[in-house]
Amino acid sequence: MRTPFIAGNWKMHLDRAGAIALASGIAKAELPAGVDVAVCPPSPYLSDVVQATAGSKVGVGGQNCHFEAQGAFTGEVAPAMLVDVGCRYVILGHSERRQLFGETDAGVLAKAKAALGVGLIPIICVGETLEEREAGRTFEVVRGQCDGSIGGLTEAEAAKIVIAYEPVWAIGTGKVATPAQAEEVHSDLRTWLTSRYNASLASAIRIQYGGSVKPDNAVELLGQPNIDGALVGGAALKVDSFLAIVRAAVV
Ligand code: PGA
Repeated sequence: MRTPFIAGNWKMHLDRAGAIALASGIAKAELPAGVDVAVCPPSPYLSDVVQATAGSKVGVGGQNCHFEAQGAFTGEVAPAMLVDVGCRYVILGHSERRQLFGETDAGVLAKAKAALGVGLIPIICVGETLEEREAGRTFEVVRGQCDGSIGGLTEAEAAKIVIAYEPVWAIGTGKVATPAQAEEVHSDLRTWLTSRYNASLASAIRIQYGGSVKPDNAVELLGQPNIDGALVGGAALKVDSFLAIVRAAVV
């Protein structure tokens, strides 16, 4: 059985006081058993959020990292630095990174290897654009991203990752994929994992759905057999809506 995993991607939102308030609001709430929870604040607030969630079951993650361990890479954050400030997770290859900052599959793979090397759990994001979906290329595009950004991991490395399927057209748009649309891609991801690795790894890996997940659509999405949680953007910025989604994971 896969433990559902709800992660909040705060993107470039909030200020320090807001980040601490949101993190402690979530950490102090009564969180249901049987669900893993994480929040991914902007880098400058990571330490504050680690402190605000200390002693709770809320894990903390970065939103990106570099693939080198250290060096002259102005503006970048090394995976070990995330570990050093108390992170357990890192989001990699989010579509905003791919589209706005030129991240490639090969770069995401290198980052995933580096993150795993220091004990971080990478949440590797894949997903098609609206144009690709309308052209009937969803499976081809998502499988291609898996080939490039996950397939180069060894079996032992791949066993530790989380995958987030986030259709680009559903992110921040209010246009959520229907449970059936999401489920068929999640199911195909497991088929891809089986062919690249094996059936037991494919059935053990958690695959989150992301893209306009809200309290009112979470139960149905998370009720799909191959959807093991959510990567939540907008609705993760308020304690109540995030907690409602966390609770929906164990209904
Ligand atoms: P959204 O973002 O929930 O605001 O659509 C999800 C994400 O980008 O991870």
